[in-house]
Amino acid sequence: MHYFHYKEEDLYCEEVPIATIADRVGTPFYLYSHRTLVRHFKAFDSGFEEIRHLVCYSVKANSNVALLRIFVNLGAGLDVVSGGELFRALKSGVDPKKVVFSGVGKTEQEIEYALNSGILMFNVESSQELVRIDEMAKRLDMRAPVAIRINPDIDPKTHPYVATGLMENKFGIDFKLAMKEYTFAKGLPHIEIIGVDCHIGSQLIELQPFVEALRRVKELIHDLGQRGIEIQYLDLGGGLGITYKDEIPPHPTEYAKAIVEEASDLDYTLIFEPGRVIVGNAGILVTRVLYTKETGEKNFVIIDAAMNDLIRPSYYGSFQGILPVTKGEEEKIIADVVGPICESGDFMARNRRMPKFKPGDLVAVMSAGAYGFSMSSNYNSRPRICEVLARGDRFHLIRERESYDDLVRGEKIPDFLG
Ligand code: LLP
Repeated sequence: MHYFHYKEEDLYCEEVPIATIADRVGTPFYLYSHRTLVRHFKAFDSGFEEIRHLVCYSVKANSNVALLRIFVNLGAGLDVVSGGELFRALKSGVDPKKVVFSGVGKTEQEIEYALNSGILMFNVESSQELVRIDEMAKRLDMRAPVAIRINPDIDPKTHPYVATGLMENKFGIDFKLAMKEYTFAKGLPHIEIIGVDCHIGSQLIELQPFVEALRRVKELIHDLGQRGIEIQYLDLGGGLGITYKDEIPPHPTEYAKAIVEEASDLDYTLIFEPGRVIVGNAGILVTRVLYTKETGEKNFVIIDAAMNDLIRPSYYGSFQGILPVTKGEEEKIIADVVGPICESGDFMARNRRMPKFKPGDLVAVMSAGAYGFSMSSNYNSRPRICEVLARGDRFHLIRERESYDDLVRGEKIPDFLG
């Protein structure tokens, strides 16, 4: 459920006509609906009312500090995977005691930053990382709170690039070796074991893999208890999918119900790290048609946004809905929507039935709130685009469009080049 809707011929975000925003900020731009973001967060969070839990929104999905602030104001914690994300998280005003730090390759500098910030816990992904965190905590004369990320070897039935809980993936520690790893961690003087973590993949559209993972991890926590290792937090990661085209993922309340059923008897706090399900359908990419062209074989709609702005179609072959910002053209054609970048993989849609767009028309690329701006780059020296947040009948620029000067900021020509 989101608040992008037509009023007669015009596409609105909440109560703002999208064409008005385009006139004001230029194109392309990302546009988010405040009401949708709040609604999605609350829908997810409220499902777990009955149990002790903490929703740590996954910053990587969309890391704009204004969005983080929305969730933090609603009581969220944050899941970060780099020093940069931790910096953003702290900027957003989150309580550091609600921050979890995941990721397979944390550097010394990042570990030190997180220790000094007083985060809730590190989700640790290898023995070597445990040793590194122990050393860093010793240097700072403290104990580092950790969970170990377990790879439960469960097939999430999703795109191979975003499956993470299989033995062939680089993430976490083999389920069978978990006890050994916990025993090792227990012997490290500057490590304080407080949790177990597991995240099996992204864009999951079935409940069963989540439930199976939870069952496996519950068994582990039981066995740990018998060995005197008490767990306070179970982090189940993120991964709940959304509708891009015709997928029918479980509603967050169904997801919550399935988890709560398995978890009502537990005496530890459950942590969740949702990203996509909160922001995915709360954001779109608005772009303008530059040209259209027909080759003998195909119709092309050439837009002013490109794969550097939204890489999902090129990288994962993902489907993103294409809608006219102003309806009108009745005639439909089959076309590719492509960007200006010098790669054949630069497309938003292929062989898609759509209105016969003309130069100057505005196009909405739907479901672009998650892994849109956060995966954008400056490829082809294209300045990164601006981000806008609509709320009611007003809108706010929450990130400026980059300038050409921004593109070369930090670059230096050595003296010997004259
Ligand atoms: N926690 C961990 C440890 C993760 O690795 C991820 C996502 C999440 C939470 C959030 O997952 P979500 O709820 O958003 O599914 N760029 C890809 C998705 C990559 C997901 C990476 N990890 C895409 O555009 O589909």
